[in-house]
Amino acid sequence: MQMNLEKMLAGKKILIMGVANQRSIAWAIAKAYASAGADLAFSYQNERFKGKVERLVENEIPGSLLIPCDVAEDGDLENLSAVLQDQWGVLHGIVHSLAYARKEELDGMFVNTSREGFLLAQNISAYSLTAVSKRLYPLMKKGGSIITLTFQGSERVVPNYNVMGVAKAALEASVRYLASDLGSMGIRVNAVSAGPIRTISAKGVKDFNRLLEGVEEKTPLRRLAGANEVADTALFLASDLSSAVTGTVLFADCGYHIMGA
Ligand SMILES: NC(=O)c1ccc[n+]([C@@H]2O[C@H](COP(=O)([O-])OP(=O)(O)OC[C@H]3O[C@@H](n4cnc5c(N)ncnc54)[C@H](O)[C@@H]3O)[C@@H](O)[C@H]2O)c1
Repeated sequence: MQMNLEKMLAGKKILIMGVANQRSIAWAIAKAYASAGADLAFSYQNERFKGKVERLVENEIPGSLLIPCDVAEDGDLENLSAVLQDQWGVLHGIVHSLAYARKEELDGMFVNTSREGFLLAQNISAYSLTAVSKRLYPLMKKGGSIITLTFQGSERVVPNYNVMGVAKAALEASVRYLASDLGSMGIRVNAVSAGPIRTISAKGVKDFNRLLEGVEEKTPLRRLAGANEVADTALFLASDLSSAVTGTVLFADCGYHIMGA
């Protein structure tokens, strides 16, 4: 199939969840999608993020929808669905690029994880994909692509990633169950497993800089993956070029995941 990059997502209406600032992976994905001709809606966590997201969007992708949505709040999720139904009536894609764990759970021994910290990380970082999909798949009347962001700490032990690694394992399993449920409606569900990237969330993981150095040294391509490269992978997954790809975890990490010690 041949495709003009500038028209790759022309006519597609896509929701981007998880822009906090210009370093967010969700922002890199939004820019790639906008360049490929998509119409975008952005959801932001709460008032604290509103101003920054509004400024970024107005300056670089004007005309996009902006909708508040804390994924822990069922009322916010219902409102998100109602606004998208009202404004667009149809949806072709969702980018779920959000996660949260308490800073104290991303430091030291996993065995010390608290019940509350465990459940919070699962709720925001894993269950939210199902909570969002449940509200929005009825809008994907012509099929669609749901994409989430994960990290290899789901499969292997990464120091200090701890409770988030377990949440990402649940997230990746959710991708498979959702892909099976929604496939008959032409809705594909996939995850992009990004290599480590310096963002505000990443700073919450203790010794993140040491992790970056270790990965850069060992990775087959001998460098770190950029957010723009993760965005290109997400562009592929949102486009018709990946029409036979669902239920998978695609690595955009310069090959780090194949390495042993
Ligand atoms: N940065 C990395 O090294 C890396 C690597 C692999 C995967 N990821 C994943 O990429 C995704 C995006 O993270 P990022 O690195 O761009 O960081 P980021 O801090 O820019 O984005 C995280 C987003 O999560 C949102 N969020 C947190 N709690 C929320 C809630 N209750 N409701 C709604 N939104 C909420 C925040 O508002 C923020 O926009 C996350 O799933 C993260 O785990 C990041």
